[in-house]
Amino acid sequence: MNFLTDEKLVIIGAGGMIGSNMAQTACMMRLTPNLCLYDVYLPGMEGVVEELRHCGFEGMNITFTDKPEEAFKDAKYIVSSGGAPRKEGMTREDLLAGNAKIAAELGDNIKKYCPDVKHVTIIFNPADITGLVTLIHSGIEPSRLTTLAALDSIRLQSELAKHFGLKQSEVTNTRTYGGHGEQMAVFASTAKVDGKPLTDLIGTDKLTEEEWADIRQKVVKGGANIIKLRGRSSFQSPAYCSIEMIRAAMGGEAFRWPAGCFVKNDRYQNIMMAMETTITKDGVHYGDVKGTDKEIAELDASYQHLKDLRDQVIKMGLIPEVENWGTLNKHLK
Ligand SMILES: NC(=O)c1ccc[n+]([C@@H]2O[C@H](COP(=O)([O-])OP(=O)(O)OC[C@H]3O[C@@H](n4cnc5c(N)ncnc54)[C@H](O)[C@@H]3O)[C@@H](O)[C@H]2O)c1
Repeated sequence: MNFLTDEKLVIIGAGGMIGSNMAQTACMMRLTPNLCLYDVYLPGMEGVVEELRHCGFEGMNITFTDKPEEAFKDAKYIVSSGGAPRKEGMTREDLLAGNAKIAAELGDNIKKYCPDVKHVTIIFNPADITGLVTLIHSGIEPSRLTTLAALDSIRLQSELAKHFGLKQSEVTNTRTYGGHGEQMAVFASTAKVDGKPLTDLIGTDKLTEEEWADIRQKVVKGGANIIKLRGRSSFQSPAYCSIEMIRAAMGGEAFRWPAGCFVKNDRYQNIMMAMETTITKDGVHYGDVKGTDKEIAELDASYQHLKDLRDQVIKMGLIPEVENWGTLNKHLK
């Protein structure tokens, strides 16, 4: 049957738009026959399962439940979009209080039912914060949890390709780092356009400073633009990319984009944000971000914004003060 693994993959929020698309993508990628769907809204999820059954995927054993103890038991891989989405005019941060509470419960369920989970990917927004809250509550090692931040880097690739009239794959190594909110840091110095450094093109008649500023805005507002066009938050691209991340964590094809991960280095501490990462069977690993002084200053600002959000969640009482994280997660001492 050629599955990548036979270990249990749980998709949380499976009755929703991203969750249902993830379930279908996981079946199409033949990751595992052992797929369990979980959502608090049972009828919607039952509809998703009916649809998947009607696809007739070979060899799949799809289960579904609204009971955490059934869903999380023996889970080895978890991907969660289970939370409220943005509506027009909302920022990702507007979702903070409600979704951070869901993240704390998710982490508690992981600790209780599947502390040996191999990898968890968090999508629901603000993902940098919900991911951090989940990590603290779950007690798992930081390398076992990632957040979906890649869409920003891919949107930069797409906008540049549209501008230059190239195939998307002819624009390479586009990168945004830091938060997956509108305070992200959009880098120019990493990217190549048809083999040429993007920085050599900015400020020429091929890409004026104004056009570059416009592209950056389109990247930052990429999610809001989908809401404007479709009347709802994006779901195809987050579903696809997250399942690519889980595939990499299962030992499959390498994930090509920056992931959000727990960071503790000389410059940034106790935060979850997009870095230069690799995801393998051993989890996520990050390296130093390289860029111009201006780009690094933007990343510093994004980090500061995330720290402010993190501190709001501490004030809400959903996570302890940083120095006490070790009481919930021994790997964060
Ligand atoms: N990180 C990213 O790049 C990215 C991109 C797009 C959307 N998102 C976020 O993903 C999330 C889901 O978006 P969507 O469009 O699929 O929304 P949706 O409303 O279609 O689906 C969300 C599902 O989650 C379920 N749910 C809610 N609370 C739950 C809980 N406690 N446990 C389990 N399931 C729960 C709901 O019943 C619903 O079926 C949103 O927070 C959205 O902002 C993130």
